[in-house]
Amino acid sequence: METCAAITQRRAVKAFDPTHRMSEEDIERLFGLAVLSPTAFNIQNWRFVVVRDPELRRRIREVAWDQAQVTDASLFIVLCADLMAWAKEPERYWREVPQGVRDFVVPAIDSYYRGKTQVQRDEAMRSCGMAAQTLMLAAKDMGYDSCPMDGFDFEAVARLINLPADHVIAMFVAIGKGLAPPWPRGDKLPLGEVMVTDRF
Ligand SMILES: Cc1cc2nc3c(=O)[nH]c(=O)nc-3n(C[C@H](O)[C@H](O)[C@H](O)COP(=O)(O)O)c2cc1C
Repeated sequence: METCAAITQRRAVKAFDPTHRMSEEDIERLFGLAVLSPTAFNIQNWRFVVVRDPELRRRIREVAWDQAQVTDASLFIVLCADLMAWAKEPERYWREVPQGVRDFVVPAIDSYYRGKTQVQRDEAMRSCGMAAQTLMLAAKDMGYDSCPMDGFDFEAVARLINLPADHVIAMFVAIGKGLAPPWPRGDKLPLGEVMVTDRF
């Protein structure tokens, strides 16, 4: 599928076939593509929690406005980020590059994030947003539908998945075989309202 077609055809699907099982091969392919998403300084701060346990899915659904995608999607991901990824052996993000590059980038990572909790959190959301879109477009290309989700109690889900204290949840991504057409597309604002030339 052409990228533009995947972008056009991706829609937020609410009803998935609960009997469909995604092959391990497809799951691996999807995540192999997801991890090609960009992250600042290549810190790869996303952590993809794949919820396979049906009972855990049921309990997450209870704190997610009873949304059926949580239990019915073939692949259900709680997209999290490690706020401290920048501090955890950052050399490993740049091992295979020439030493000159490594010597420049690795200290720069530290000075960009150290002591800046807002920057750490912003970066988590930037990385996860881009990974979510990669997952959804790749899924579309592979013949699946998807739904990005943040309609849930973040603290309750954090407890259910044992979220470490230095991690945050960004959103859910549900992927599977759509059973019903999505809602009609919401209205798009005119480009003249959302595009700004040079300055506000
Ligand atoms: C961050 C985010 C959170 C969302 N949360 C939910 C959700 O909890 N449940 C749901 O059914 N759709 C959710 N959506 C889907 C949006 O309603 C949908 O993307 C929007 O209406 C545009 O429709 P489209 O994606 O089909 O083009 C969410 C989308 C985004 C980007």
